[in-house]
Amino acid sequence: MTYKIIQWTTGHVGREAVKGIMRHPELELVGCYAWSKSKVGKDVGELCGIDATGVITTADVEQLLAMEADCVCYMPTFPDIDEVERILASGKNVVSSYFVNARSWGSDVQTRLALAAEKGGVSLFGSGIFPGFANFISALMASASYDFRKILFLESVNVAYYEAIANYANLGWGQLPDEKWRATNESVLGAYAECIDVIAELLHIPITDIHFHYECATATDDREFYGFSIPAGTIAGQKCRWTGMVDDEEVIELEVVWNAGKGLKPDWPVRHGYTMEVQGEPGVLTSVKFAPSQTQLQSGRPADLANVVTAMPVINAIPVVCAAQPGIRTYADLPLIRPHYTRG
Ligand SMILES: NC(=O)c1ccc[n+]([C@@H]2O[C@H](COP(=O)([O-])OP(=O)(O)OC[C@H]3O[C@@H](n4cnc5c(N)ncnc54)[C@H](OP(=O)(O)O)[C@@H]3O)[C@@H](O)[C@H]2O)c1
Repeated sequence: MTYKIIQWTTGHVGREAVKGIMRHPELELVGCYAWSKSKVGKDVGELCGIDATGVITTADVEQLLAMEADCVCYMPTFPDIDEVERILASGKNVVSSYFVNARSWGSDVQTRLALAAEKGGVSLFGSGIFPGFANFISALMASASYDFRKILFLESVNVAYYEAIANYANLGWGQLPDEKWRATNESVLGAYAECIDVIAELLHIPITDIHFHYECATATDDREFYGFSIPAGTIAGQKCRWTGMVDDEEVIELEVVWNAGKGLKPDWPVRHGYTMEVQGEPGVLTSVKFAPSQTQLQSGRPADLANVVTAMPVINAIPVVCAAQPGIRTYADLPLIRPHYTRG
C-alpha cells in the first residue's frame, strides 16, 4: 500500500522528513505547505537540498485540505490547534514532531483534537527523539527485569551546534534569569510531561502526580550561535526535570540538560545523548548516542543528525498511524513501528 503524504513546512526537521518520505517505499509526497512567503511556489526538493520532486509548495490551506491525502506530516515551529483540528476533520491523519497526547494543552484542546480525529476517522500521533522515541526505549528496557522500581532518563546535549537554537528564545535564552521562566518552561515544554503519561501507560504505573523542576545556567561571556545572541549574564542553558510520582515515591524521572557551549555558570557536564536506567532486579542501563553520516560530515553539517533523528520516528510511524483506530494515539497504543531495509 502507498500512503499519500502532505508535508507541512520545510524547516530544520521538515526538510529531513521530506528526505525520509522520498526514501520510504510505502510513502508518496503529494503536497507541501509553505509558511514562509519566499518558499511558496517552489519545488519541495529545491527547499530540502535534494532532486526535484515535482511537488510544488503552496500557502493555500483550503487547497491542501481539499486534496486527497492519507496523512499530513505537521512540523511548524509551533502548532496552530485550529489548523490541526481542521486537517484531522478533513480526513487526514496527522503525524508531528510536536505532540504527544496533547494533555498539557488542557482538556478543551485535547477533546477538540480527539473529536476532530473521530469525525475524520483518522489519528493524531507525535514523536521525535525526545519527546518521542528515546523515552519509549527507556520504557521498553523495563521488560528485562523483575520488579522495576524506577525509570531514570537523561537527555544531555550541547546545543551550540544546533542550528534551530533560536527556538530556545521562547524559553528565556538570551534574557536575564527570572522566576517567570520556570512557569514558561513548564508550559512550553508540556509535551515532555506527557511522556510520563505514555511511559506510565506502557508500564502500568499508577501515577498520582507529576512534579516539575527548573534551573537555568548563564553565559559568562557574550556568545552568538547561528545569529542568535546570548549576552554575558543571560540564560544559555537549563536543566528541567519531570518526576512521575506514585504517592510519595519517584517512579519516573525525565531530565533534560541543554547547554549552549562550555563554561556556563553552573557548568553542568555534557553527556552527548541519552542515558537511561531501569532500577530493578537486575538494573538495566543503556546510553544512546548518534554519529553523523558521511554525507552529513562531507556537507559540513554534522549537527543535521539531530533533525534526522527527530523526523524519522515520525515518518516511520505513518503506516501504523494510518491503520490505527481514530483518535489521539501514542506509543502506548500503537503496534510495533517497523522501518524498511533498503539496499543502497
Ligand atoms: N520531539 C523532538 O524530539 C523534537 C526535536 C526538535 C524539534 N521538535 C519540534 O519540531 C518542530 C519543528 O522544529 P524545527 O526546528 O524544524 O522548527 P523551525 O525550523 O524553527 O520551523 C519550522 C517551520 O515552521 C514555520 N514557521 C516559522 N515561524 C512560523 C510562524 N510564526 N507561524 C507558522 N509557521 C511558522 C516555517 O515554515 P517554512 O518551512 O514554510 O518556512 C519553518 O520552517 C517544532 O515544533 C519543535 O519543537 C521536536
